[in-house]
Amino acid sequence: MRRYHVTTFGCQMNAHDSERIKGMLEELGLGEATDAEAADVLVFNTCTIREKPDTKFAAYLGQAIARKRERPGTVIAVGGCYAEAQRERLFDLYPEVDVAFGPGSIPHLGEWLGAGGFGVARGSFGLDDRAFAGELPMHRERPFQAWVQISMGCNSKCSYCIVPAVRGREISRRPGEVVAEVTRLAADGVREVTLLGQNVNSWGRDLLPDIRTEFGELLRACDAIDGVERIRFTSPHPKDFRAPVIAAMAECDAVCEHAHLPLQSGSTRILKAMRRTYTRERYLRLVDELRAAVPDLALTTDLIVGFPGETEADFRDTLAAVEEVGYDAAFTFVYSPRAGTDAASMEDQIADDVKRDRIERLVEVVQRVAQRCNEARVGRVEEVLVEGPSRTDPALFRGRTRRNTTVNFTGTAEPGELVEVRIEAATSTTLRGAQAVAAAA
Ligand code: SAH
Ligand code: SF4
Ligand code: F3S
Repeated sequence: MRRYHVTTFGCQMNAHDSERIKGMLEELGLGEATDAEAADVLVFNTCTIREKPDTKFAAYLGQAIARKRERPGTVIAVGGCYAEAQRERLFDLYPEVDVAFGPGSIPHLGEWLGAGGFGVARGSFGLDDRAFAGELPMHRERPFQAWVQISMGCNSKCSYCIVPAVRGREISRRPGEVVAEVTRLAADGVREVTLLGQNVNSWGRDLLPDIRTEFGELLRACDAIDGVERIRFTSPHPKDFRAPVIAAMAECDAVCEHAHLPLQSGSTRILKAMRRTYTRERYLRLVDELRAAVPDLALTTDLIVGFPGETEADFRDTLAAVEEVGYDAAFTFVYSPRAGTDAASMEDQIADDVKRDRIERLVEVVQRVAQRCNEARVGRVEEVLVEGPSRTDPALFRGRTRRNTTVNFTGTAEPGELVEVRIEAATSTTLRGAQAVAAAA
């Protein structure tokens, strides 16, 4: 049997796309190789959000090309956002690549690999004939949790971001299709679903005039499906986080008490240059509204330092916003110019040493604030979805709270179970605890 190996870079959307890629390869009769060494078909599902994933991919591809020289039958397929961004020159840059496909072309991968024969098919790829991979076979990585794609593409114009160029304009999946997929997953034993889109809160707008709906309604429809214990979603854009979605979060039992709300910068001036279309004040108001509606809400965010023109005062606004909101966790990024985006050609690019200094200071504040949030959980009993053994200590179990914090704990749990865990200790990123024994009746 021929074997494949998929290496995934980038976000949850890409990780989910890889599940479809694997499902498709298995449909073609390939089996998964334990590692890249043992594979005949090497697939890279790439990311190009910052320079770092580009560089990392180049190193992986270098190894794959060396392997192909030793074993000429090896097929190299490159998919994802970097492939789309480099579509004009990918085959010139890397003649060893056999197949390339963009994020919207996964349904074509099978034809391009050549059914059965694996002849070299250099499929064209692009944004014109994008299709949801929702109907493809899927190789799910996690038995009790699942990603569900609700939209593809993005209509925002954030000046730093490459995503609209590589994933195209937003197309929403029809509500019936989403609900049918979640229903199938629940019947399969999935207890937690994460709805995925570049901007989940603008979902549904492009379905007009056929269908009049919005994201809050989709949350309610998913909440009504039997067997789904937890619903998550990522990412909402603060500009589109409207009252109906807040109400649905507050009223749906399965929707978790967590919002990942990308702030990017705490400076209104920089937010404007980023074209985020909200101000610091409006964002903070949204945080207040969310917290008033959803008690004990966890908030996480994405932050960028070193955007062109960012002054020390702008940067301090970001530090202050982290303190003021009190984020449970934050992904922090150094601004990385992306070819073709507006910000890449702005004047006042920030020097690398200034960026480095700012990211270090930001990480320190983020960690201190997160540590404080996690310490506040000590002594509480939290509902945990058991995922498996702890990554660092196999004697412990690992799971996640509804607020999306990882907990390592002692107990007698089975993966997929929901258990009560008493929290005993906290770091800035994880909790430690012991499974609570139900009091005797
Ligand atoms: N659509 C999602 C995810 C976008 S990519 C959203 O809008 O929330 C994930 C994060 O990467 C972004 O939120 C942003 O913080 C960061 N990012 C995007 N482009 C970047 C760039 N050019 N340099 C540094 N960070 C970037
Ligand atoms: Fe990029 Fe902005 Fe769209 Fe997110 S909302 S994918 S940051 S353009
Ligand atoms: Fe995701 Fe990277 Fe593409 S973050 S959308 S895989 S550019």
